[in-house]
Amino acid sequence: MTNISLRDINKQNWRTIARLSDQLSEEQRKFVAHNAISMLDYHYDQDTLGQKAIYIDDTPVGYVLYGIDEQDATTWWIIRLMIAPAYQGRGVGRSAMQQIIAMLRLMPNCRAIDISFVPANKGAKHLYEQLGFKDTGKVEDGEIVFRLDIT
Ligand SMILES: CC(C)(COP(=O)(O)OP(=O)(O)OC[C@H]1O[C@@H](n2cnc3c(N)ncnc32)[C@H](O)[C@@H]1OP(=O)(O)O)[C@@H](O)C(=O)NCCC(=O)NCCS
Repeated sequence: MTNISLRDINKQNWRTIARLSDQLSEEQRKFVAHNAISMLDYHYDQDTLGQKAIYIDDTPVGYVLYGIDEQDATTWWIIRLMIAPAYQGRGVGRSAMQQIIAMLRLMPNCRAIDISFVPANKGAKHLYEQLGFKDTGKVEDGEIVFRLDIT
């Protein structure tokens, strides 16, 4: 049975995780920033951001960047999410999202989790709807904003 987990990014694994983005198709590269860029975002903003590698057993297969909303400390954002193409369509994205949501809902005063995606990203939309995210009607930088209310 496959074991999907979120792991810390460190000196040993960061290059491998960064390079997963090179495997994305040209189409999917338009959906998410390169992991190396996201890691630099994290590096320069560690007060508000967090990042994890996504593993299947001991194989690194994806990346997630998340952070607190700077205007509203009750809202957390899942800012970037990617699964390497060879591992897509096997439920890894869904399991990783469930684990990130479980982690963020334990953050102090967390009342909502937001996520955004470009309108062309039908796969992401489907996945987020499956997990209970609802359309907020907001569009930010051309991306549709979905929200999961935490009660
Ligand atoms: C979006 C992404 C994270 C989904 O991860 P994944 O591991 O492939 O997703 P899962 O296998 O867990 O699929 C969950 C559901 O979404 C659907 N789905 C995922 N990707 C899809 C796609 N490209 N097209 C259609 N449906 C898709 C699956 O069919 C599944 O639905 P089902 O249970 O009804 O069959 C992954 O495709 C990815 O990294 N894409 C490139 C980067 C990206 O778009 N990131 C999101 C930016 S907002």
